[in-house]
Amino acid sequence: MSDLPYLTLEYLATAIILLDEESRVTYLNPASEQLFDLNGKNLQGFPVQQVFSHSDQLSSAIQQAIHNDATYIEHDLTLGTFAHGKLHLRCAATPLQFNRRYLLLEFHPIDRPLKLAREEQMLDQTQANRMLLRNLAHEIKNPLGGIRGAAQLLEQELEKPALREYTQVIVQEADRLRALMENLLSPQNISHYSALNIHEVLERVRTVVLAEMPEGLTIQRDYDISLPALIGDKEQLIQVMLNIVRNAAQAMQGHGMITLRTRIARQVTLIKRRHRLAVKVQIIDTGPGVPAELHDKIFYPLVSGSADGHGLGLTLAQDYVNQHHGTIEFDSEPGQTCFTVMLPLP
Ligand SMILES: Nc1ncnc2c1ncn2[C@@H]1O[C@H](COP(=O)(O)OP(=O)(O)O)[C@@H](O)[C@H]1O
Ligand SMILES: [Mg+2]
Repeated sequence: MSDLPYLTLEYLATAIILLDEESRVTYLNPASEQLFDLNGKNLQGFPVQQVFSHSDQLSSAIQQAIHNDATYIEHDLTLGTFAHGKLHLRCAATPLQFNRRYLLLEFHPIDRPLKLAREEQMLDQTQANRMLLRNLAHEIKNPLGGIRGAAQLLEQELEKPALREYTQVIVQEADRLRALMENLLSPQNISHYSALNIHEVLERVRTVVLAEMPEGLTIQRDYDISLPALIGDKEQLIQVMLNIVRNAAQAMQGHGMITLRTRIARQVTLIKRRHRLAVKVQIIDTGPGVPAELHDKIFYPLVSGSADGHGLGLTLAQDYVNQHHGTIEFDSEPGQTCFTVMLPLP
């Protein structure tokens, strides 16, 4: 091998390990030494499987690359290192032929940092959107009052009663818009935090929704009654669960089964914070599922799959859950939709 390829590898930001045909380490570039906290010189000639623990996935990626004589990419590789414990990486293994055969391994760290960055970005964006919307709602509300008042004055001046129908429309629509704007502005409520039992919250929601849809709806409980108390705003959490359960009931048109499940979750990262314990609440329905075209955006305000929906239920639910440092996610296919709310425990 001439010196030039080595020289370029030295400057790469990507972590590179070069193996010989027996999978022994020939070379580690500085990025790789840094990523794994290894010294390349000491490792020359070592079988790569001995450099790392949990190297099964790596071995199989190497075998695949050699077998196919082509680049093999493992998108989610776990590798045990002495310095940093387990690392999650994307790894590309490429067979090379110079004067002899080599195998080039490229590593890109993934998972946690990436997931966190995505979450962080989403949270920022959501907050920016909400702010924009709130300001907009505020700006719309004021002139609406003027429009409504003017329509009423106009109505008094109208001689033909038939024409009043039109002013009535203006008044009614102004009222409808006003109610919507009020809804958009509401999540600014002040929270009242106290110790609470999540099952009390769920029981209340269950009673309300069953009363709303008395026929054909079953709400089954699957509670872990050993769950410790949560610190939160009870009214807000009732609203959260109510919005999700109502959506499920509406999606099934009041006929079908909803399951309320609670479990404990350990060692979870929720919006950038690591928690030892969290409560996991799942609301599962047997309905047709969230329409595919809404999958990326149901938490956005004003996104609704129904003609008479406002598209604010899940937005509000997410706002409240985030205020509790928790997350809300869903997984949906026809016949099974599951909304998962994670709430950290103290
Ligand atoms: N369990 C569910 N099954 C199917 N679709 C759902 C479910 N939950 C939410 N959706 C979809 O997400 C949309 C947004 O819900 P939401 O924010 O509560 O607004 P709204 O209920 O006013 O439409 C709903 O209109 C519906 O299309
Ligand atoms: Mg709703």
